[in-house]
Amino acid sequence: MGFSNTFFWGGATAANQYEGGVFEGGAGLSTADVMTNGSHTVRRRVTWKKENGETGATPLCFGSAERHLPEGAVPCLLEDDAYYYPSHVASDFYHHYKEDIRLCAEEGFNCLRFSVKWSRLFPNGDDETVNEDGIRFYQDVFRECRKYDIEPVVTLLHYETPLSLSARYNGFDSRHTAMAYVKYAKTCFKAFDGLVRYYLTFNEINCIDAAPYVTAGLINADPQNIANAAFHQFLASALTVKEAHENYPDLKIGMMLAYGPVYAKTADPQDQVIAQQEMNKTLFYSDVQMRGYYPRFKLAEYEREGIVIPAQEGDLETIRKYPCDFLSFSVYSSHAVTVHEEGEQAGEGNGGTKAHMVKNPYLNTNAWGWAIDPQCLRVTLNTLYDRYQCDLFCVENGIGWNDVVEDETVHDTYRVDYMKANIQSMKDAVELDGIPLMGYLYWGCVDMVSNGEGEMAKRYGQIYVDADNYGKGTFQRSLKDSYHWYKQCIQSNGEVL
Ligand code: BG6
Repeated sequence: MGFSNTFFWGGATAANQYEGGVFEGGAGLSTADVMTNGSHTVRRRVTWKKENGETGATPLCFGSAERHLPEGAVPCLLEDDAYYYPSHVASDFYHHYKEDIRLCAEEGFNCLRFSVKWSRLFPNGDDETVNEDGIRFYQDVFRECRKYDIEPVVTLLHYETPLSLSARYNGFDSRHTAMAYVKYAKTCFKAFDGLVRYYLTFNEINCIDAAPYVTAGLINADPQNIANAAFHQFLASALTVKEAHENYPDLKIGMMLAYGPVYAKTADPQDQVIAQQEMNKTLFYSDVQMRGYYPRFKLAEYEREGIVIPAQEGDLETIRKYPCDFLSFSVYSSHAVTVHEEGEQAGEGNGGTKAHMVKNPYLNTNAWGWAIDPQCLRVTLNTLYDRYQCDLFCVENGIGWNDVVEDETVHDTYRVDYMKANIQSMKDAVELDGIPLMGYLYWGCVDMVSNGEGEMAKRYGQIYVDADNYGKGTFQRSLKDSYHWYKQCIQSNGEVL
């Protein structure tokens, strides 16, 4: 009754945090490439310029309540030492991909998740022709995976809309961006035919609410713009699934949800209501992508708020006809909410801050305030399976830590403890609760820049990368203790934890 013998074990990455090589191979810029570095206390910012020459930077990223660039500002790179952009070098996977894939293969991985940088293929997002250098780079990466029998899982959009589409069209606020995305997705299917069998359409699509710029390229995000962006991503995803089903029957297309169970802190029914409301904000996205239609609680909310779904004739039918083939999700931590306390928040966790969020007295946190919840995966898997009865795939789970190098390695017992508890919880869901699960991919298996903070200091990896918060270092790779632990876990198919 353990994990199936086709279970995917591996790791997950994203181009904007890992790949680097932003100015190589004819790539265009993405929204991530104009995001500055930050930390737990300093928000990342988006740099911009106005026609009159005025420049500046606005915190449009995760954790900020800001939803607009100043009037007339266009996001762009600024040649100014005051700003550092971590995506430009990141972990330099662009030049280290052979080594990284080999190290992951030696760790026992049979699966690796990457994202394709859309603007590496279409520099402006909607160009007539594709950049062949970009195609070649990813083909080389996927061939390298195949050499070691590693199944690549490809996220088509992981937190980086082509910058030009963001500047000209307010990203996915516009239908134009959705249609450009579908062309890009079709291009990937064709170019990577025979190399890639699993795609995810939009990373953490539900984070449009918490970080509309990061998730959907919005530089202006009122509630109506956010609703438009969500709809256009649903439509783009459905058209992508349609293309796969009609022309590439071997492909499986997944949706990707940022999931963090929200617990009521007390037994006060009021706390249950707010916990449920917070969960619904997340489940709205999976309801549409897995069931094919908007849930009634969302339609009621839109009606109350005067928000209109920008559907054209046939769109809702397309969304209904082409839900995703499986549900993939990230899960790092849980959240606690109550109406009885105010003030100190428990940190953010992934998926954004929740209303009424407080510290859970039963859980420890890491230095960034993310709760370490050993039951998280079991709760998540049960909730999602009960609701959708579909194939589930955990494509992100992990812990960020300020690792210290000692004796030329990192003794990351905290990471091993975290993984042990999380994998045990997942195993309980599979063995005791009978949940079908496709696989487990550890987030940031090779150290990379954190998304929320834009710093290297928040490391997740089992493979250490010698680089600091400013992209300085040798970029040499070395193996942490957790690498050896995960290797024996994989070798035993999760029996030895
Ligand atoms: C997920 C994202 O939300 O969490 C990743 O898909 C991100 O891109 C990961 O890196 C961990 O978050 P952070 O902010 O610690 O990097």
